[in-house]
Amino acid sequence: MDSIVVTGNGPLQGEIPVAGAKNACLALMPATLLSDAPLTLTNAPRLSDIRTMTALLESLGAEVAALQGGQVLALSSHALDSQRADYDIVRKMRASILVLGPLLARYGHAEVSLPGGCAIGARPVDLHLRALEAMGAEMDLRDGYVHARAPGGLRGAIFEFPLVSVGATENVLMAATLARGTTVLKNAAREPEIVDLAQCLRRMGAQIEGEGTSTITIDGVDTLGGATHPVVADRIELGTFMLAPAIAGGSVECLGGRMDLVQSFADKLAETGVEVVQTERGLRVTRTGDRVRAANVVTEPFPGFPTDLQAQFMALMCTADGTAVLEERIFENRFMHAPELTRMGARIEVHGGTAKVTGVARLRGAPVMATDLRASVSLILAGLAAEGETVLSRVYHLDRGYERIEEKLRGCGARIERVKG
Ligand code: EPZ
Repeated sequence: MDSIVVTGNGPLQGEIPVAGAKNACLALMPATLLSDAPLTLTNAPRLSDIRTMTALLESLGAEVAALQGGQVLALSSHALDSQRADYDIVRKMRASILVLGPLLARYGHAEVSLPGGCAIGARPVDLHLRALEAMGAEMDLRDGYVHARAPGGLRGAIFEFPLVSVGATENVLMAATLARGTTVLKNAAREPEIVDLAQCLRRMGAQIEGEGTSTITIDGVDTLGGATHPVVADRIELGTFMLAPAIAGGSVECLGGRMDLVQSFADKLAETGVEVVQTERGLRVTRTGDRVRAANVVTEPFPGFPTDLQAQFMALMCTADGTAVLEERIFENRFMHAPELTRMGARIEVHGGTAKVTGVARLRGAPVMATDLRASVSLILAGLAAEGETVLSRVYHLDRGYERIEEKLRGCGARIERVKG
């Protein structure tokens, strides 16, 4: 298995291009299931999760062509011949549940394997099912599968999510585009990925209002058409690369970065003493001082501080001046990076959903590994500021969400290499 070797090497200088958002693309791809006409996604990221979604859609009979090296995805569902998402694929990626809403809306039935728990928490899908039930679907959970039926077709409904869920909002948003009548989703997720999905669905002919706020209203239409849609920039990849100069020092321009995608995170960086400026081409991040200041973080749904940047921010806090308290409120088990960072010399105490990080002057390289994507990348970031070599194994987690990360960081002067194993 491959590993990545990072050697702390002082300040970074240069630019890093930000790719299209993995989590937006994973929701946009299933939108093809809503229509006979072609859907073309541009600015798609080249990641293993995207290949997993491709395999899932192909298993349903959809056609997915990766063009221009994978940056353009040409999707078509004109010859769909299955409405069953098998365990074999769903177990690899929880976002597979996003085919449920579209299949049910278009065909009146679907069978989707229930995704299990995962490293960061139990992650149930009850809200996806309850919202679709409110729209007239009948759900039967048997043999590890959701057997969903809507014999008379889905109908519009008013549904208030008891807690904010990105995936459930996406699933129901897609389903509602083809339901009879009007659907009102209250306490909906406001993430940029939801806005991107709504914009794409509107290009396909859907009637949607209110995306980006907590109330989304969808007027169902009879059919949807084709569209070409550019995937929004990946705010989590952006935030991750913004942390590289914050941790290692120096100045990096993240090309394609937009402040509105990462405002709360950028505000937090500013609190630590790191400068973030919007330029014509993206966001420039500069750390001039020797050490950043400690800052506390509470993860929240958008527009709050994203859980998907908590691990990376913890890596920054490991060498900050002072003590930071990081509270994880979205997932119950998202501190797996803490013991690995500790192996690099960090001082971290975890109590339930709270981590107390007391900065040290210097981290030391070590062999490390992680069991999820963001934890993995936090160890690479920590390696940029560590003395000596950090060797990250289980790199396949990283490849789920970061495209050419070694190349991008090397472009700014980092010493980082992939070792084939
Ligand atoms: C999305 O997951 C992202 N994944 C995650 O990114 C991200 O961490 C998360 O949103 C929160 O921002 C994709 O978009 C593919 P949720 P999702 O439903 O939709 C609970 C990454 O690193 N919940 O908003 O699965 C749930 O357990 C990943 O790229 C229920 O209780 O997240 C969690 O505690 C990891 N019942 C909270 O809600 C449900 O039916 C928020 O989850 C659904 C969710």
